Amino acid sequence: MSGGDLSVVYGIGELVVGPGEDDSDGPLEIREDAAFAAVDGEVVAVASSEAITREYPPENAATAIDADGRAVVPGFVDPHTHAVFAGDRSDEFAAKLGGAEYREILAEGGGILRTVRAVREAGDDRLVASLAGHLETMLAHGTTTAEVKSGYGLDTETELRLLAAIDRADARQPVDLVPTFMGAHAVPERVDAEAYVDEVIGEQLPAVAEQGIAAFCDVFCEEGVFGVDQSRRVLEAGRERGLEPKIHAEEFTRLGGAELAAELGAVSADHLLCATDEDVDALVESGVVPVLLPGTAFGLGEGYADARAFLEAGAPVALATDFNPNCHSRSMEFVQTLGAVEMGLTPAEALLAATRNAALALGLEDGTGTLREGAPADAVVLEAPSYVHVAYRLDTSAVEAVLKSGEVVYE
Ligand code: NIG
Ligand code: FE
Repeated sequence: MSGGDLSVVYGIGELVVGPGEDDSDGPLEIREDAAFAAVDGEVVAVASSEAITREYPPENAATAIDADGRAVVPGFVDPHTHAVFAGDRSDEFAAKLGGAEYREILAEGGGILRTVRAVREAGDDRLVASLAGHLETMLAHGTTTAEVKSGYGLDTETELRLLAAIDRADARQPVDLVPTFMGAHAVPERVDAEAYVDEVIGEQLPAVAEQGIAAFCDVFCEEGVFGVDQSRRVLEAGRERGLEPKIHAEEFTRLGGAELAAELGAVSADHLLCATDEDVDALVESGVVPVLLPGTAFGLGEGYADARAFLEAGAPVALATDFNPNCHSRSMEFVQTLGAVEMGLTPAEALLAATRNAALALGLEDGTGTLREGAPADAVVLEAPSYVHVAYRLDTSAVEAVLKSGEVVYE
């Protein structure tokens, strides 16, 4: 063995390598009594434990793990979070349980607008520390890559500060972050929606592009927030600045955001609780990844998105936490449990949705979300013999250890 740091994980009872390559595999390709080796953070070989330990002796490795019959799965990818925020909205959770409506709270200056006030008052270091704390919890639940949106600034200065905080948090802890600009998250108080869209396009987007941190541009396309034409303007302007479109679509009402995502060839359309059969077909035909957020539906007591309709139409359904002050879940394990118990996904479909399909929702085509040769060696060792434990456990985490780029970053 030569060149770079070697990592070897062997004695794996059940290794989830990635999506099944043919029908006989089902959604996942799974190997028993398996092992993998990685060099410089990239998987170089996947084979039987015997073959790998012969070719890559664990005693020569910088990182060697005897999984002793446990299951190992790809690190989870969380493709939709609003994890950088300040303040506390637990009282709104209690109010919603008592019958208050999410959009009414927002219309009265609460919800997103309340978080915006808290963020504008928070210092940069506090934003970074808060985000890093949340990422630590996400990592402990197996997340190795996460998207994080701005969108609690709603002015140029604060949106740039949020993106910079994401960048700083990315550099100081193991979870890889994918930053998304979401200046069009809500209409600021006492501002006209059209005028605000003009500001997002004319002032915020050029500054965000110049800053050079954000990879995607997202918009909350919803009745009472941004309409379809406004969303189109924002997303087209984002694309002109090099930010690929994502969209919050058909969450509370069926407004046409999914059709817009199809028209634009967005990377993903997210939420989709009210998507119709026509929306499903349009998204599948245009290759838009549906990102379903069961934690949000669960927390709000809403119906879930129709995951089976998407799967039957051939979509690579992805799951995400949507972690934000309205959906306080940082766990991709919990999301998979909800996917299985509430949305009718098999545990295998839920795992695929939380790994490779979630990576597709971030445009990551380098093998992220799999443990195939050439992929980043991001893996979760479970304290269980089967991947099914991820969705099956209703109480504590099934995660025993997490590897990022071949190194143990949590145990
Ligand atoms: O995806 N729907 C819009 N944005 C977030 C909620 C943000 C908030 O309430 O703070 C979401 O659920
Ligand atoms: Fe969201």
